[in-house]
Amino acid sequence: MAKIDFTGRVAIVTGSGAGLGKCYALELAKRGAKVVVNDLGGSRDGMGSSDAAANKVVDEIKALGGEAVPNYDNVATVAGGANIVKTAVDAFGKVDIVINNAGILRDKSFTKMEEENWDGVMNVHLKGAYCVTRPAFEVMRANGYGRVVMTTSGAGLFGNFGQSNYAAAKMGLIGLTNVLKIEGEKYNVKTNVIVPVAASRLTEDVLPPEFFEKMKPDFVTSAVLYLCSEQCTDNGMIINAALGYYSRSAVVTGPGAILSDGKRVPTPEEVMESWNKITSLENPKYFGMLPEMFGVLGPVLQ
Ligand code: NAI
Repeated sequence: MAKIDFTGRVAIVTGSGAGLGKCYALELAKRGAKVVVNDLGGSRDGMGSSDAAANKVVDEIKALGGEAVPNYDNVATVAGGANIVKTAVDAFGKVDIVINNAGILRDKSFTKMEEENWDGVMNVHLKGAYCVTRPAFEVMRANGYGRVVMTTSGAGLFGNFGQSNYAAAKMGLIGLTNVLKIEGEKYNVKTNVIVPVAASRLTEDVLPPEFFEKMKPDFVTSAVLYLCSEQCTDNGMIINAALGYYSRSAVVTGPGAILSDGKRVPTPEEVMESWNKITSLENPKYFGMLPEMFGVLGPVLQ
């Protein structure tokens, strides 16, 4: 089996002062990567800041003989994102890998979801990925190599009570990935998505205690390290990882129903009549990009 090795690679891991990000940063460094350990060091809901979390992880990496520098910027600002990338370029000369991992939670049922909780979560997860990835993408394009990992959530993919802000932000990252996979392809910049479940301060009151003990971030780390390796040449994959379970999720489209010749507009009643066929997911198709979707209209256009 070919070994996954990051010698000579430079990685940015956002929010790597704790939880999953810390585990990614340590494992990347153990396998030779030079790592920017970014962490704002705030609370679970994104309040406050501290240098301590990032510094501690950098010290741990150095104690193991690895190379790392800390960065304490907020991913949710354009200036912060630019400075995170600058930290990597100044310290190590380039950026090969970005893992967009920083995250907060501000759960409320939808009617109680005030603007500050909506915006706070959107800004860290969705805008944060924009702020960090955009300057990094420029460096990667110029170098003809890059691996980007976005972090989504089952709350977005499948739904979860009280997380409308978080779910919307996390699904926004899938849309962003769908475009970056196309724009990065010819520069060998690949963007994929991880759907983790693991014990951390974000899940300590969500996962049942007996689960919490077992759900080590290391299980997720193996999938993330593969996604940001040279060996992974896939683009736009969404990978679930928890305990020892790994699988792919995807947006797929059912075979559908043709209700007209493309000239006559079908009535709402005809749509109702064919609802089971329209909503069937039997033999679904995966479209790699929007123009492929237009192909299904072929039979109507003939
Ligand atoms: P965590 O709370 O242990 O780690 C997140 C880190 O991000 C913290 O150290 C925090 O200080 C940092 N951070 C927060 N806002 C930041 C900002 N604006 N700029 C820079 N750093 C910031 O949480 P965990 O569980 O390790 O989460 C990592 C990612 O995985 C998050 O994006 C989360 O939404 C996602 N996720 C986690 C799941 C889990 O089961 N733990 C499930 C699904 C998604």
